[in-house]
Amino acid sequence: MSEESSSSDFIRLKDYAHLMMSKAYAPYSKFSVGAALLTDCQKIFGGCNVENAAYPQGMCAEAGAISAMIAGGGSILKTICVISQSKKIISPCGGCRQKIREFSNQETKIYLLNIKDEVKVFSVEELLPFSFSEFDSLKKE
Ligand code: THU
Repeated sequence: MSEESSSSDFIRLKDYAHLMMSKAYAPYSKFSVGAALLTDCQKIFGGCNVENAAYPQGMCAEAGAISAMIAGGGSILKTICVISQSKKIISPCGGCRQKIREFSNQETKIYLLNIKDEVKVFSVEELLPFSFSEFDSLKKE
């Protein structure tokens, strides 16, 4: 286990991500996902995937956690931890990478886990290189 993946922040988040995964509503894909995040103000928020019979209306776990963070007054992601039931380490979809990017900075750490708690850590730049940001949308030239 690396120093990072044994830190107390990581262990708290991992446990919360497991709890979130247990609450997933995934009757269609049968693929439960949990996400837990820590803000720069040390608050924890979580989310799980919530599917729908109208498939495109389903929501990813990361989106739920970010939504809870915004509603709870948070704004900057210090760390986010995502887990699924797969033996393969989870790989967030493109939309969630962009959502994570919106509320991250260069220090943000993204921990991606599999069901055995094997973990890979990424920065936003690694997860979403050459990304679109608020500065790009404000630039006219
Ligand atoms: N899913 C997530 O919640 N997060 C991810 O990072 C990848 C995929 C969900 C969406 C859908 O409910 C299910 O997993 C299968 O794609």
